[in-house]
Amino acid sequence: MARIPQNVVEEIKYRSDIVRVVSEYVELKRAGRNMTGLCPFHREKTPSFTVFPGTSSFYCFGCGAAGDVITFVMRIENLDYGDALRMLASKCGVEIVDEDKSDPDYVPRDRLLSLNRDAARFFVSELRKSPAAQKYAAERKLSPSLISHFGIGYAPDDWGVLTRTMKAKGYTDRELERAFLSAKGKRGDYDIFRNRLMFPIIDKAGSVIGFGGRILTDEKPKYLNTTETPVFSKGRHLFALNFARLHCAEEMILCEGYMDVVSLHGAGFENAVATCGTAMTEDQARLMKKYTKRVLISYDADEAGQKAAEKAFTLLDEVGLDARLIKVRDAKDPDEYITKFGAGAFRDLIRNKTASRFDFKFSSVISKYDITTPDGQVSALRELEQYIAGLPGASERDVYIRQVAAKMNVPVTGIQNDVSSFLSKKAKGEKRDLNEKAIRGTAGYRDRINPERIGNLAAASAEEAILGILTIFPENIPSVISGELKLTTDDFVTGFNRKIFGEMVKYGADFDIGLIGGELTPDEMSRLVSYSVERQQLTSNGPDVLAECVGRLRALKNEPGMTVEEIIEKKRREEKENGR
Ligand code: CTP
Ligand code: MN
Repeated sequence: MARIPQNVVEEIKYRSDIVRVVSEYVELKRAGRNMTGLCPFHREKTPSFTVFPGTSSFYCFGCGAAGDVITFVMRIENLDYGDALRMLASKCGVEIVDEDKSDPDYVPRDRLLSLNRDAARFFVSELRKSPAAQKYAAERKLSPSLISHFGIGYAPDDWGVLTRTMKAKGYTDRELERAFLSAKGKRGDYDIFRNRLMFPIIDKAGSVIGFGGRILTDEKPKYLNTTETPVFSKGRHLFALNFARLHCAEEMILCEGYMDVVSLHGAGFENAVATCGTAMTEDQARLMKKYTKRVLISYDADEAGQKAAEKAFTLLDEVGLDARLIKVRDAKDPDEYITKFGAGAFRDLIRNKTASRFDFKFSSVISKYDITTPDGQVSALRELEQYIAGLPGASERDVYIRQVAAKMNVPVTGIQNDVSSFLSKKAKGEKRDLNEKAIRGTAGYRDRINPERIGNLAAASAEEAILGILTIFPENIPSVISGELKLTTDDFVTGFNRKIFGEMVKYGADFDIGLIGGELTPDEMSRLVSYSVERQQLTSNGPDVLAECVGRLRALKNEPGMTVEEIIEKKRREEKENGR
């Protein structure tokens, strides 16, 4: 059977929500960020089967079964990799085209890209011809140079001119439909975008992959966006990243609207991007992580915008990106702010007025309760303490404990005690036992998957940390292949880990366990995923831990290892030292 291309595997995995798929077989309950249920792969009475939506993976702390949505289907339906992919594909509406069979409906990517480019050119020339559209653009303060920089165009107020023009160039109805430019009507295909200012969405190779269209009038919907096409998915791209990626090594500004981004670029903030007509997704958070260190969230000032900002904070935090909030005042959004107060004022906001996630949390908690009453104050404190307890670093927690104490005028020690008791409740439970069980289970002396492990425990554990972190944060793979941290497969001491690293080298930052499901046995897959499970909590310090482990692996390459009990003992000691 023909090999399924990488981009199709990525598409299937992206569209197959692991929680939804697993829920068809297992009753899941929420547990913090994750979901748990009774393991379908072994008999148990208390749930140790966990689904991690953040990394689209599952892990059973009881039997060690683990993997991604594809592995799950392979195991539960007893299918091989290709058939599991086919089953998921048919559920989520992805077509798998066997490339050797010529399907008359199949539209190659480059055909769609060339159609998009021709359509974008058509829109640009229509804007030049339309006084109404030019008048609108001028009212929106879009200068001719900004218009040409972004390739902004105009889709005429007509039901068929684009479709006709593109067909005259040799494109078919089928191609126009697949590109989300035309839709099927009773009397033939008609144009989807009409009477709209057209913002092309361009990828890093410079190809037009989709469009956002703003209507010129007050009609609804105000915006239309390309949704899902074989070359575009609105939850996975960012508007203006093609420009911003060259200006955002330190900071990136994230907005809600196309107009915000265009205004910001016009005002000299070329590091601004926007989501394409949807709330931010985890994929977009990961995408930003590839390009920048810090994201400045600059959403609309209204309640909806601030709610969306809170969600963005959470997603950015989960991928380990530092985030801050820029809230505009006396304007509804960054676009209006710049028009009203100028670029200098916005620059001031960035320099002096950004809020951390904690500041943001603090003000939203304070506004939620009436803190002039003791009851209100206690409730607010509880919520803040719980929030602080959820932060990963001890010193980070300490800083915020002090801030809350000062701001709410209560003693530091009280808050410290409360936070510690939240923490120990959390830590005491199953987690530690389960981690130890996982270590014991995989380190057992009859290790069929990685037999060299037992003789090289310390090196293997550094390798596993490296592979686990890279599985969660594949954007770091290039730096380990060729950057500062440079490792080669020869640096890996144990065979199984060396093989996995070889796969990572092959795929680089695109690595995903979903891509290698065909190369591994189910048990090997479980082993690999177990490496990342222990490291799910790592967020912003992932790269530091990675560097430390690379150093350790180099140092340990030829040293004898520790025993399982020594490793567990060491973990216990470390946890104690970390004040847990
Ligand atoms: N959006 C959408 N569909 C709508 C409204 C909004 O897809 N019906 C998306 C668009 O991506 C838009 C963003 O949400 O850019 C922000 O919406 P909004 O603040 O309403 O628009 P602005 O970008 O501020 O545009 P304008 O200034 O023209 O109102
Ligand atoms: Mn807006």
